[in-house]
Amino acid sequence: MRIISGVTGKTKLLGVIGNPLSHSISPQLHNTLSKHMNIDAVYVPFEVKKENLSDAIKGLRALNVAGFNVTIPYKNDVMEYIDEFSREAELIGAVNTVKNENGKLYGYNTDVSGFVRSFKEESGMDLKGKKAVLLGAGGASRAIAVGLAFEGVSRISIINRTISKAEQIANIINNNTLTVAECFCTNDLKVPEVLREGDIIINTTSLGMFPDIEGTPVNFPFEFTKGQVLYDVIYNPAKTRFLMEGEKQGLKTVNGLGMLIYQGIQAYEIWMDVKVPERLIKNLYRAFSEL
Ligand code: ATR
Repeated sequence: MRIISGVTGKTKLLGVIGNPLSHSISPQLHNTLSKHMNIDAVYVPFEVKKENLSDAIKGLRALNVAGFNVTIPYKNDVMEYIDEFSREAELIGAVNTVKNENGKLYGYNTDVSGFVRSFKEESGMDLKGKKAVLLGAGGASRAIAVGLAFEGVSRISIINRTISKAEQIANIINNNTLTVAECFCTNDLKVPEVLREGDIIINTTSLGMFPDIEGTPVNFPFEFTKGQVLYDVIYNPAKTRFLMEGEKQGLKTVNGLGMLIYQGIQAYEIWMDVKVPERLIKNLYRAFSEL
């Protein structure tokens, strides 16, 4: 008989809590990372019902897991059970990564650095002093706004259907950073001008996501400005209509796969105190873009 040695008495346990988790790529991402980094750890999904969230976190602490990710719908609710937060997590009011250090739970938000690392890597543009336009004002928008402000953009214009949600994000930015944030309702007549004035336009809404791929956060026909970078948090399809229209006009475009991969890489680096080599990140990116 062959002894199965994939999991040993010393294997570290990692995982993700959320609901639903059937579409999550995180188990594949982290287990591939452990294999290639030669680290003895396994990452498993924990699909948790809302009424069991408190017990689930108590259980993870009691079982002494090394760390875990938190995804929809618990990124905010989980904060109640965490001991200490990174500045980003505190500002955003959301945690997507928890590290357990001797029973103490530390909460981080790696969506912030995930966005920044992927944007820099893929666009080649330095964010300092730039004007950014954010379409949408949900969780992804919050994390990206904080990332942009930490990178020193001069202005963030947040455009959203529900203005109050845009205002909440603008308040976080204006009260805590040197960046100036302003808000517009999607149907505001100034929107086309705001869009044309940005150096970067970022879609954080679900408009254009599979299966509704005709959706777009910008009303076309629309003439972008030369040199603008378009970023879409959507990665399925790999090119949304928003990105395709930009590409047709000769703009640099970036999709959300890099943000997804880098938020995971950053979480792994936090849990394991390692630096994932650039070559491995490139290979992971290639493998996941072919999924
Ligand atoms: P995420 O966590 O991925 O950011 P979210 O928190 O649900 O997701 O946020 C979704 C964003 O997309 C919101 O800004 C939402 O607008 P509202 O704040 O007005 O709800 C935006 N959005 C989703 N569907 C939209 C639609 N059909 N038209 C315009 N905006 C839409």
